[in-house]
Amino acid sequence: MNVLVIGGGGREHTLAWTFSKSPRVEKVYAAPGNPGMKNTAECIKLKDDDINGLVQFAKDAQVDLTVVGPEAPLLAGMVNRFEEAGLRVFGPTEEAALIEGSKSFAKAFMQRHNIPTGTYKVTSDYEEAVRHVEKEGVPIVIKADGLAAGKGVTVAFTQEEADQALQRILLDHTFGEAGARVVLEEYLQGEELSLMAFVHGTTVLPMAGAQDHKRAYDGDEGPNTGGMGAYSPVPQFNEAEVDRAVRDILQPAADGLAAEDRSFTGILYAGLMMTGEGPKVIEFNARFGDPEAQVVLPRLESDMTEVILELMEGGAPELIWSDEAVLGVVAASKGYPGPYDKGASISSVPESELLFFAGVGEQDGRYVTAGGRVLLLAEKGATLEEAQTTVYKKLEELDTSHLFFRKDIGHHIISR
Ligand code: AMP
Ligand code: GLY
Repeated sequence: MNVLVIGGGGREHTLAWTFSKSPRVEKVYAAPGNPGMKNTAECIKLKDDDINGLVQFAKDAQVDLTVVGPEAPLLAGMVNRFEEAGLRVFGPTEEAALIEGSKSFAKAFMQRHNIPTGTYKVTSDYEEAVRHVEKEGVPIVIKADGLAAGKGVTVAFTQEEADQALQRILLDHTFGEAGARVVLEEYLQGEELSLMAFVHGTTVLPMAGAQDHKRAYDGDEGPNTGGMGAYSPVPQFNEAEVDRAVRDILQPAADGLAAEDRSFTGILYAGLMMTGEGPKVIEFNARFGDPEAQVVLPRLESDMTEVILELMEGGAPELIWSDEAVLGVVAASKGYPGPYDKGASISSVPESELLFFAGVGEQDGRYVTAGGRVLLLAEKGATLEEAQTTVYKKLEELDTSHLFFRKDIGHHIISR
């Protein structure tokens, strides 16, 4: 089979690597991919918003299966267009991906289907938003309604922080159309769990859980990012708690989407807060998490290609997971998630089976920075502690003149 992975980040490198291990797969293409993954996939110079170009390429190259990594092309109707062209694609249609594309849609959907989540209010009116925050008090969570690459969320602990976030979104229009409305959410307390599943209609195959680290700096300080590191499994939660999250959240979400004529195929991701009252949804995503994919897929012993094909043909294959733990640390450009320089040379990068590249370019045979999150280094271990020790030992070999990484990935369970 020929497989096409759309996107060019660490998640897509991991997807390409996972497909490349399958005996069923002969060729993996990535569009656009990145120079760090060229040993795993042939990178095609097509951007992930070039739907016509990608459909044409998939036809010409006789691609048998396409997987879309990022959310933006899903919400732009990439899967709809592939399906119209008669191409096999594993991902949600634009209609199904709305569960990620609009936080207000997702909240109302959860209410309709009794899926546990925090209370909320949606408004486009700044004055009304301010009054709501005054009435509810802090802490309160303020989110731009649409896609904002993980940067549209403020957990406000003071009225002032809340007001600044509301001004940025509703008055300064920092997020453009994505910030036409805000969602004001109840602040949920607990441990976070990222729970993803392979989904086709009402068939839900849950994956091993992962925990992301969203804040930029050690001790969960600093601004929210796309994710600075992750690990799997998440031993804070036992099987019964995870089963409950599947039963009360992932399954009803798949069922609800199917019932509303938005039947979901692809990866459904529930960002959960495990509260004293049980799991509650922070957000849904319509794709693999990044960096969650980088630590979950290396633990998948089943052939992902087989799993996807069987699922799409109406089966429900069992997923086999390795007992080994995987822990991964992101190295990002200094300044991320704010402004950062591009084109800075990275003189040394450690070697690992699980080295996944994201925002890198290549110049004179050397890697240079080309984005916020540059790479993720992960290691396996008999325990998370072992994996963590190996990762940080190896990261000593990374040239950090232009990069930084968190020193405490895994700190909720392991103290260093
Ligand atoms: P999101 O982009 O919606 O996943 O939000 C980013 C991060 O903000 C989450 O991973 C949480 O750490 C935090 N967050 C979002 N919503 C809430 C909430 N309702 N209560 C507490 N923390 C939240
Ligand atoms: N790591 C969180 C996300 O991919 O949205």
